[in-house]
Amino acid sequence: MKADGLASGKGTTVTSERRDAEAAIHRELEREPRRIVIEEFIDGWEASFTATVSGGRAQWLAPVFQDYKPIYDGDVGPNTGGMGVYAPVPMVTEAIVDKVRRKILDPSADAMAKENVPFQGVLYLNIIVKHGTEDPRLLEFNARFGDPEAQGIAPLVKGGLLTHMREIAEDSKRPPLPECASSASVVVVLASKGYPTNPSTGDRITIRKLSQNSVVLFHAGTAIASTGELVTAGGRVLDIVATGPDVESARKAAYSAIGSSVQFPGMQYRRDIGSGQLRRRKLEQIQT
Ligand code: GLY
Repeated sequence: MKADGLASGKGTTVTSERRDAEAAIHRELEREPRRIVIEEFIDGWEASFTATVSGGRAQWLAPVFQDYKPIYDGDVGPNTGGMGVYAPVPMVTEAIVDKVRRKILDPSADAMAKENVPFQGVLYLNIIVKHGTEDPRLLEFNARFGDPEAQGIAPLVKGGLLTHMREIAEDSKRPPLPECASSASVVVVLASKGYPTNPSTGDRITIRKLSQNSVVLFHAGTAIASTGELVTAGGRVLDIVATGPDVESARKAAYSAIGSSVQFPGMQYRRDIGSGQLRRRKLEQIQT
C-alpha cells in the first residue's frame, strides 16, 4: 500500500494484517487527500534483467543478476541502493527468462514502436518471482542500467560495453548479441561509514594495485580532495568486480582483492554476496 506518486523509494507499507493496512491508508489520506495504490503482496525473490532495444526489437544484454539491498549480511538492516550483485542466479530458469521475454519485454518494445515512441537504449527490469513458482511479475522498468548491475555487466561484454552501446545508439538496426567474456560476475560494494543513514565523506582511501586480471575496481562515490588525496564522497564509494568461470571463483577473487587492495576508515561491505544462492534455493525447495 502506498500513496500514488513518487516517494523516493520509500513510503510503501507491506503487511499481511488488514488492521495495519487500514492504519497506513488513513495515515496517507490524512496527510493529503490523494489516491492510494493497493497491490497484491508477492512473497518471492527478485532478479535484475537487462535488455537493449534497438530498431523496435529487444534482446538480452547480459545474464540475469541478483541484487542485495539491505546493508548487512543475511539481508538484515536498512535498505540501500544495492550492496552487491552476482550472476548467474541458479533459480532463474530458462522458463522464467522465456516468460519475461514473451510476456513483458517484447510486448513493451512492440507497444512503444506501435505508439510511435520507439525506444532505443537500455531497459532494466526488476522482476519478482513468487516462491515455488516460475511466474515472473514486473516490479519496475527503468530506462537505465541497474547500479551496481552495470558494473557487473561491463567486464562480461566481449568487445566492450561501450562499443556495443555505441552501435545501439548510432544504428537503429539490431546489433549482434554480445558474447559473454566470462560465465560469472560478482560485484561487492564498498560503502562509507554511516551509510545508508548518514554517510561519512572526506575519508582517505588507499588503493594498492590489483594483482588479478579478473578483478576491476569502479569508482562511485569518490573525489580528489584539495590535498590531492582520494577521499570518500558518497554512500557507495567503490565497486570491486570479479569475473570467473563460476560464481564461487569470482566471489573468492573479489573478496581477496578487498582484503589486499582497498582500505578507508569505516569501510563497510557485505561478506555474503553470491553466497546466498544456496540459502535461497533451499528456501524455495521448502516452500515448493
Ligand atoms: N540495483 C537496483 C537499481 O539500480 O535500481
